Amino acid sequence: MHTIHAARTPAPSHASTTTPRRADLYAAIHKALRRAMTDTLTRLGALDTEDPADLLRTLAQAEHLLDMLRSHLQHENDFIHTAIEARRPAGARRTADDHLEHQGSIAALQAELRTLRAAEPSMRPTLALRLYRHFALFVAENLQHMHIEETANNAALWALYDDEELHALHDRLVASIPPAEMMDTLRWMGPALSPQELAALLTDMQAKAPPAAFAAVMDLLRPLLDPGRWVQLTTALGLQAGQPARAAGVRA
Ligand SMILES: [Fe+2]
Repeated sequence: MHTIHAARTPAPSHASTTTPRRADLYAAIHKALRRAMTDTLTRLGALDTEDPADLLRTLAQAEHLLDMLRSHLQHENDFIHTAIEARRPAGARRTADDHLEHQGSIAALQAELRTLRAAEPSMRPTLALRLYRHFALFVAENLQHMHIEETANNAALWALYDDEELHALHDRLVASIPPAEMMDTLRWMGPALSPQELAALLTDMQAKAPPAAFAAVMDLLRPLLDPGRWVQLTTALGLQAGQPARAAGVRA
């Protein structure tokens, strides 16, 4: 069975209230992951093991999330840890070690998912509760881990790089992500961000992405956002809220 860290004392926040917010490579994706993890955990807790459709759907979401988390930690290893250690040798060791442990936890949870899916109906409630509890511990570990990344690793990045370099690093990381994975991420990220953060993200995308790709993102987000948030977003982007997103996404 995978091991889980005992609760750790949170690292202090390095956010200052008197200086402008620095480029933050972690904030948006971690909000998306917190939403995806807590939603999936809640669904695992509410799972009806006597309903084959619920079982299929919930386990598929959990499996998909684990794939997303494995991919996410690889992006962090390849781009963010590499950047920290290029200017501060061993500067990312703590969170790199966490990632090794997370890979083991992900594999263990995937094995539990497969066991539950294949189990006799009489065994399912016990296995579902076991999976839910182990998944909760994994989420707890990830919440602690992401806080360390957002405080200690951000402090390192901000000391070692200026914002222009960090934006370029972010763009290289995002460019490495296949379109399908990007859409999956945006599905969680859209409703997880503040309206101002989402508007900034999509303003950047509107300027850089092909119109059809931008329109596809807007179509994806529309049913996921509260109507008020959708109006707020389209207003910020200079689009008309009432139009179909696909038409609204391509500006005259
Ligand atoms: Fe991480």
